[in-house]
Amino acid sequence: MTDSELPTILLTGGTSGIGRVAARQLASSGSTVAVVGRNASRGETLVSESRSLAGTIDFLQYDLATQDAVRALAKHVRESYPTLDVLIHNAGVSVPDRTETTDGIEKTLAVNHLAPYLLTCELLETLRMGARGRVVVTASGLHTRATFDFDNLQFEAQYDSLDAYARSKLCNVAFTLELADRLREINEPITVNCLHPGFVPETGLFRDAALRKRIMIRLAAVLPWVGTSVEAGGSLLSGLATDPTYRTETGLYVGPEGPTEPSETARDRKNRIKLWEESASLVGVDSSWPA
Ligand SMILES: NC(=O)c1ccc[n+]([C@@H]2O[C@H](COP(=O)([O-])OP(=O)(O)OC[C@H]3O[C@@H](n4cnc5c(N)ncnc54)[C@H](OP(=O)(O)O)[C@@H]3O)[C@@H](O)[C@H]2O)c1
Repeated sequence: MTDSELPTILLTGGTSGIGRVAARQLASSGSTVAVVGRNASRGETLVSESRSLAGTIDFLQYDLATQDAVRALAKHVRESYPTLDVLIHNAGVSVPDRTETTDGIEKTLAVNHLAPYLLTCELLETLRMGARGRVVVTASGLHTRATFDFDNLQFEAQYDSLDAYARSKLCNVAFTLELADRLREINEPITVNCLHPGFVPETGLFRDAALRKRIMIRLAAVLPWVGTSVEAGGSLLSGLATDPTYRTETGLYVGPEGPTEPSETARDRKNRIKLWEESASLVGVDSSWPA
């Protein structure tokens, strides 16, 4: 493989957990990986630790909770990486108490779903310039316990952090399937796939959870038969970005054992279209994209 064939990858949520493992694996094989996160110290450590790797890791400090920051990130990427090959949406949060962003959006929905939706829309042309456009979304098996309630998408009435998280992951799967179909319908060769890494107790995902929950997760992390390792989760993620299968296959939901069927709620096209339109309205873009 020549240098010109090595992909340029934008990876959100690469400062910690499975994203950090994936960033190192991708850079080890020579890719340029632009890692997005909020935590400057973790980002800079990752950059300095990567100097001996074959590829490059850059750190881009942006808070994906605000739409202005997502648009600013997209502008920076368009200017700095004109040929983006892979866009990985891995940043994710679980928020213990209902919190609204400065855009007035429930934070789990804003970071986990609306940021990927808006960032993909903003970077679609840049992905078209790349040689092998792919979008990868980190979803979760927890999406199967979620339903859509489009009159209460942001849990205004009654908030439960696990329900909000599970619904945001349902949004991830529904968005993946819908974007894949829309791109296929216009003969656009960019592929879109999502994954569920399994339960990975070692990551920082539940760092803000209530003490009791954190203790249970900490216990799970030391029991070898519970959950999966952060390395295995990271490898699954980097595999979707580089495995030739996912350069041609699109609209897949991939678990540790390979592609599997997501929930019926996620597959339902009426739900997907409704989510697409609601999301476009919440981030202020024309819902006809990617036409
Ligand atoms: N752990 C599990 O059991 C599990 C299972 C299924 C799916 N997942 C999914 O896997 C993905 C990665 O999570 P993880 O488990 O590896 O947890 P993690 O260690 O907490 O990683 C989350 C990443 O998201 C970034 N992030 C969070 N909020 C952000 C924001 N507002 N703006 C920019 N970046 C932000 C964090 O970076 P900063 O802190 O630097 O902002 C961090 O790099 C998530 O999408 C999660 O939903 C996890």
